[in-house]
Amino acid sequence: MIDQPLTLPNGVVLANRLVKSAMSEALGDARSNTTEAHIGLFDRWGRGGAALLITGNTPVDRLHLEHAGNVVLDKQTDLARTARLAEAAKRGGARVLVQLAHAGRQTPEAVNPRPLSMSGLRLDLPGYGAPRAATEEDLERVIGQFEESARLAKVAGFDGVEVHAAHGYLLSSALSPRINTRSDRWGGSLENRARLVLSIIRAVRRVGGPGFTLAVKLNSSDFQKGGFSHEDSIAVAKLLQNEGIDLLEISGGNFETPVAYQHGAGKNSSASREAYFLDYARDIKAALTVPVMVTGGFRSRDVMNEALTSGATDLIGMGRPFIIDPAFPGKLLSGVIDRAPAVERDFPAAATLPRGAVLNWFCHQLALQGKTGAADLSLPIVEGHARYLADLERATERLLQERGIES
Ligand SMILES: Cc1cc2nc3c(=O)[nH]c(=O)nc-3n(C[C@H](O)[C@H](O)[C@H](O)COP(=O)(O)O)c2cc1C
Repeated sequence: MIDQPLTLPNGVVLANRLVKSAMSEALGDARSNTTEAHIGLFDRWGRGGAALLITGNTPVDRLHLEHAGNVVLDKQTDLARTARLAEAAKRGGARVLVQLAHAGRQTPEAVNPRPLSMSGLRLDLPGYGAPRAATEEDLERVIGQFEESARLAKVAGFDGVEVHAAHGYLLSSALSPRINTRSDRWGGSLENRARLVLSIIRAVRRVGGPGFTLAVKLNSSDFQKGGFSHEDSIAVAKLLQNEGIDLLEISGGNFETPVAYQHGAGKNSSASREAYFLDYARDIKAALTVPVMVTGGFRSRDVMNEALTSGATDLIGMGRPFIIDPAFPGKLLSGVIDRAPAVERDFPAAATLPRGAVLNWFCHQLALQGKTGAADLSLPIVEGHARYLADLERATERLLQERGIES
């Protein structure tokens, strides 16, 4: 049941089963440091009742942001400010992990026209440059970057990190035989494709030590012909477990197959309709002993409890409800509400809207929640989408200006 505690393999006790999954907040400044709006938002999320918070996508390499506004953890980071965010997140009793990521070929062209990837295969979307296939030295450097960011996360006071190996970013693309066409020790067999994420896990474990929580976000499948399959996912999950991770989060898809944040899945409350990766997660969990968290679509307490009691998952990950109401977990746990906010259920089908409009509307609401302390539900989808794109353009300009000054 959602109010039951859970002990992770490293002995860390989570107070209940509700987790805020990673959502890229885009609240960083032009130097990719955290801001007061960002810290304030984590303070409210931390007091909202969830047992665990996972920060948004935090790049380990400032030339491979997922977009301007990301907060980076590297040697240039203002660590005192970062520590304030960790402290704010934990003030209400929640645990907090930093999601470490390398955007790979999904780095926007404006941020890096020639991003590092596992091959030269370009993302099939406008706005992304032709990638450069990583050399052996590049991949060793990336491992070192994850290690350094994890070390800094520990120094800043975070409880651990989540290594982002889902959604098509560098580690996810390494797992995909469609994108990773290499014939060296980083490509080909599943063991070779998993080498990058496994090497990173070993490095992070080394710097984190035993009490440091180490989670991984993995796709249940890329849902792409010739891509990372469900069978691959089960096999990689076992390899990750053998490396001693504490938690595996299950999601799916990438920028070309954006299935991670579905909406309008219907008012149908059957568990697998609401939580769209649950059936995939069930298979993965059956092969593991390490705790599993499923993210994507969970809204009603009945469905969450059914998923937990049926043994399909150990933790309930949620994203968008935290944008609408940071305090909803406490209300769900105490019975004040039976369902997390689910505004997206009433949105029109994605095909009738500009590409990315619903996600961008949520991104804009996330920024509003951080800057003003509330989302604006009266804002039309297309307008929220447009405002997000305009803000992103300005943030990108500021980032490039700052880079120009620094170099
Ligand atoms: C605005 C927004 C930003 C997101 N950013 C990230 C991210 O940085 N890293 C990540 O792993 N997932 C990210 N996601 C995906 C969420 O973690 C989650 O998997 C997805 O929203 C589905 O869960 P939900 O139905 O409860 O929202 C993002 C989702 C949204 C809506």
